[in-house]
Amino acid sequence: MLITFEGIDFCGKSTQVKRLEDRVRASDRTVRVLREPGGTPIGEVIRGLLLDRAHAAMTDAGELLLFSASRSQLVQDVVRPALNAGTVVILDRYYDSTTAYQGYGRGIPLDVIHAVNRFATGGLVPDLTFLLDIPEDEIERRMQQVRHTGDRMESSGRQFYGRVRAGYRALAGKESRFRMLDGMKPVDDLERMIWEEVRQWLT
Ligand SMILES: Nc1ncnc2c1ncn2[C@@H]1O[C@H](COP(=O)(O)OP(=O)(O)OP(=O)(O)O)[C@@H](O)[C@H]1O
Ligand SMILES: [Mg+2]
Repeated sequence: MLITFEGIDFCGKSTQVKRLEDRVRASDRTVRVLREPGGTPIGEVIRGLLLDRAHAAMTDAGELLLFSASRSQLVQDVVRPALNAGTVVILDRYYDSTTAYQGYGRGIPLDVIHAVNRFATGGLVPDLTFLLDIPEDEIERRMQQVRHTGDRMESSGRQFYGRVRAGYRALAGKESRFRMLDGMKPVDDLERMIWEEVRQWLT
C-alpha cells in the first residue's frame, strides 16, 4: 500500500507521518517512511541543491526537473521494491507537491507538469493521499513558534502559498484517493482520523 501526505509547508505532514508509522508498525505490518526530495543517495544530493538559499536564481524548469529526478530515483530504487515486498510505504510528499508548487505555485503549464510527473514515477499512483489543509497565514505563525529561518522553498511569500494551497484543494476535488483534512485540528484528532482511514484500507 502506498500512502502519501501533502499540503503546504508547516501543515503538519511530518508530524502525522510519524504518528501513522507508529500505528502501522504496532499493527504488525512492515512500514517504510520516505521523504521527498531525497530518500536515496542521489536524491539527498538533489535535496541539498533544491533547498540551498544560495541557489535563489534556479529556473522554474530546473526546479521541476530536479524534484522529478530525485523522485524517479526514489520510485525505482526504493518505493517499487518495497511495495512488491508487501511493505506499507508512507511518502512525506510525492508528485502532487510538484503539481501544487511548480504548477499552481510557479505557473508551469499543468500539461507539462502532468507529463513530467508520469514520466518520473512510471505512473505509480498512491492508494491514499492525505491533504492537510491550513490557511497560508498559519505558516508564519508556526514558523515563529519554532524560530525557524526559511529554506529556499520557504522564502516564496504568502501569495505563492495561497496559489499552492488553492492548487492542492483543486487536486483533492479531482481524484477519489484524496482525503482532505483540516490541519488546524489538534494533532491527536488528525492522527485518529488518518488511522481510521488507513486501518480500513489494510483490513
Ligand atoms: N495539528 C497541528 N496543530 C498545531 N500545530 C501543529 C499541528 N501539526 C503540526 N504542528 C506544528 O507545526 C509545525 C510544522 O509541523 P510539521 O513539521 O509536521 O509540518 P510539515 O508539513 O512536515 O512541514 P514541512 O513542509 O516544512 O516539512 C511544527 O512546529 C508542529 O509542531
Ligand atoms: Mg516535514
